[in-house]
Amino acid sequence: MMRVLVTGATGQVGGALARAVAPEGIELVTVGRDRLDLARPGTIDGALDSIRPDIVVNPAAYTAVDKAETEPDLARAVNAEGPGALAAACSERRVGLIHLSTDYVFDGSGIRPYRPDDPVAPLGVYGATKQAGERAIRQVLEDHLILRTAWVYAARGQNFVSTMLRVGADRDVLRVVADQHGTPTAAVDIAAAILAILAARRDGTVLTGTHHYTAEGTTTWHGMAEAIFARAAVHWGRRPVVEAITTEQYPTPAARPAYSVLDNSSLDAVVAVPRRPWQEALDAVLDDRLGPRPVSPAVMEGTR
Ligand SMILES: NC(=O)c1ccc[n+]([C@@H]2O[C@H](COP(=O)([O-])OP(=O)(O)OC[C@H]3O[C@@H](n4cnc5c(N)ncnc54)[C@H](OP(=O)(O)O)[C@@H]3O)[C@@H](O)[C@H]2O)c1
Repeated sequence: MMRVLVTGATGQVGGALARAVAPEGIELVTVGRDRLDLARPGTIDGALDSIRPDIVVNPAAYTAVDKAETEPDLARAVNAEGPGALAAACSERRVGLIHLSTDYVFDGSGIRPYRPDDPVAPLGVYGATKQAGERAIRQVLEDHLILRTAWVYAARGQNFVSTMLRVGADRDVLRVVADQHGTPTAAVDIAAAILAILAARRDGTVLTGTHHYTAEGTTTWHGMAEAIFARAAVHWGRRPVVEAITTEQYPTPAARPAYSVLDNSSLDAVVAVPRRPWQEALDAVLDDRLGPRPVSPAVMEGTR
């Protein structure tokens, strides 16, 4: 049995792993911050020694992109120093580490999907601390996999989908940024990809280094908002209008990359991970969040 310690039980990706059915021969032990606190490295040894995993999956992170600008020390402790200490503890025990990172390590000036070895140049504190975490892991642990993903959302929790549904429920017109390009990726799909990577490892294919995993396709926050309301309209019976605005018209404390589409091919070349077009995954998550779609009378008629 391969025992896997998963951090960040209350997070989007950690939570999806906690609810997932583990493949045969793999046991998932998911812990929260109460048991393993990346900002208190003293808790790391205790968690590893009591759970005795073969591999650790670390989706836990400080993910508040704007707030990080005013809390750089905490962001650095959780995203850089903590993962460094975790990797060192894994190295001492000959335990592997799968660590989640972000498209925000790139500056967004690219004109084609970013490959894992493209130069990084984060624009904000969050991206910089995640980059520092990647570096700290590479320095001390050979058996590491850094998996960068992007624009993560889930049916519940704090994310763009929740924000749009909350605001769209009250307003008929919203303004959303249309000049940042990326790939919305469902936490449940990232969890499925991690499980496929773990199953491959169980079968002898050990993937190491830095790789990318996102859904298929590209959009903007405006495009994602439109897709959210197209689906929500079926449930609500009304559809808010989404006006396209520029980043300049919506200033935020942290600068974000204008283009952060990730090239997934290095991962796909080694492990067959499940991947859906972003719209398909988003529709599934929205149906989960909003409940079953109302059945129209015409459809009811046909089923008689
Ligand atoms: N969210 C995105 O859009 C996005 C985009 C690209 C990459 N990523 C990366 O993908 C990974 C997963 O993101 P996510 O969206 O699932 O994150 P999330 O929903 O924000 O969850 C973060 C998790 O980290 C935990 N955490 C925070 N501080 C901690 C600490 N000091 N010690 C231990 N746990 C701590 C949180 O626990 P509490 O509930 O106790 O706070 C929570 O369980 C992260 O590495 C993130 O950097 C995310």
